[in-house]
Amino acid sequence: MRNSYRPLYHVSVPFGWGNDPNGTIFYNGRAHLFFQHYPHKPEWGPMHWLHVSTEDLIHWDLRPVALWPDHPYEVNNGCCSGSAVEEDGKLWLMYTAAQHMMQRQCLAVSEDGGDHFTKFEGNPILTAEMLSGEIYEEDFRDPRIFKKDGTYYLIAGIRYLDRAERKEPAPVNQRDVTNPHRPSPDHKKEGWGNLCLLKGSDLFHWEYVGHLLYPQPEFAEDFYRLNGVYECPDYFVADTGEEVLITSPQNLPQSGDHFQNVHSTMYMFGNLDFETGQFKVRVMGEIDAGFDIYAPQTMRMPDGRVVMIAWKEMWGRSFPTAKEEWAGTYTLPRELSTDGDFLIQRPVREIEKFLANPVRADKLEVDDSEAAVEGIFGDVIRLSFELEPGTASKAGVKLFCDGTHETLISYDRETGKVGFDRRNSGIEITGEEDVVNVRVCPIGPCDKISMEIFLDVSSIELFINGGRYTMTGNVYPDLDQEQGIRFFAEGGKAVFRNIEKDDIEV
Ligand code: FRU
Repeated sequence: MRNSYRPLYHVSVPFGWGNDPNGTIFYNGRAHLFFQHYPHKPEWGPMHWLHVSTEDLIHWDLRPVALWPDHPYEVNNGCCSGSAVEEDGKLWLMYTAAQHMMQRQCLAVSEDGGDHFTKFEGNPILTAEMLSGEIYEEDFRDPRIFKKDGTYYLIAGIRYLDRAERKEPAPVNQRDVTNPHRPSPDHKKEGWGNLCLLKGSDLFHWEYVGHLLYPQPEFAEDFYRLNGVYECPDYFVADTGEEVLITSPQNLPQSGDHFQNVHSTMYMFGNLDFETGQFKVRVMGEIDAGFDIYAPQTMRMPDGRVVMIAWKEMWGRSFPTAKEEWAGTYTLPRELSTDGDFLIQRPVREIEKFLANPVRADKLEVDDSEAAVEGIFGDVIRLSFELEPGTASKAGVKLFCDGTHETLISYDRETGKVGFDRRNSGIEITGEEDVVNVRVCPIGPCDKISMEIFLDVSSIELFINGGRYTMTGNVYPDLDQEQGIRFFAEGGKAVFRNIEKDDIEV
């Protein structure tokens, strides 16, 4: 029925490889997304920035490649991640020029709305040595610029050298030797993962303020002593006044059901001290409890919304789409807000304009069995319902049922956890984690759970209880089969209410 796993309403790299979103910004009447790109193969290579932009957050137009490694200071690993800012009507990008033993920050500017960028002749403008003895020069990357009260600030991922109490570096990460950007097995890295805050009078002159993460009760000791980098930071103030720090720590130790991916994506609520750089953590959590989520970046829309887009993949995994000569997909843009200790994520409301062919069912009872609802099937749809687990020990929905395969989303009443099980979803996905294809999201005891699910050919995004929790993952079912949906309950009776299915037509 289909001949490609390419999603229809999510951004995906058109050819070659794509990773982190970069330079997300609303500029000149459009939302812009750049991302890490290697054009020659569907695998990581010296980085380029590919550029897409949109008027409606759903249809993205391909623009010319924005950056490629054409200067001696970036030829090894290319133009790595960074951010965008508007200054004097021009669009500026700050990115990391990554060499084998050195990561330095560079600027490029566009004066034609983002089609062509010129690299600043004074590049690199920012090196670890210029700033502080605390930054390890090999790991200083992913600058995120923002403006506050007329002053520029920048948060970047670093390895922090604790000169005072220097400890033996942790064993090197031997996980990804195929990626030259990652540590190789025989190369000892120094320091511990952290983030730094810099202050700039303009985009060219920066001074070191300090490092953000320090031992504190709300932040586990082994999260502080990280053998990796807190990559791809992002920072914004939510409409509730909550300060939100987002980052993607490499090699974060698993903590119960949380942080099960080889590299994780976390948010922290707290206070950034602009004098010392320290971030006082109030609440910390995982952004998404699924499989495929990394390096999210946000942008502020003209109406005030904070919209986040993440890489919808994970390092160290197999990429079945590489057979089609591409690898790299992105989440739906998600509106972020906060509610108490929760980060709330919702699909951008613009998606509602593309809902078609509605099918509704008020109520479906399933007693220790499974059932389909007429008209509810498909692989490019929005599906939502409320689940009352009732007496069932486990109840939920089977997606992408192609006759042989299925992907399970379920709630386990005894454990209070939502599960996402893609062990029998289609092409097997391999990865570096002990458990690659099952994830759980502890939501606690619930009599009623709301689920909103977006399917897009090979993509699943699940929003639980109004976006208090999300689970995201890719699956690769048989493309030549129709993709069915079945509601199921085990060990008792569950009720599904207000079932809604809409096709998504873009
Ligand atoms: C995160 C990351 C960044 C780096 C980029 C290189 O996924 O490792 O830290 O800038 O990818 O592509």
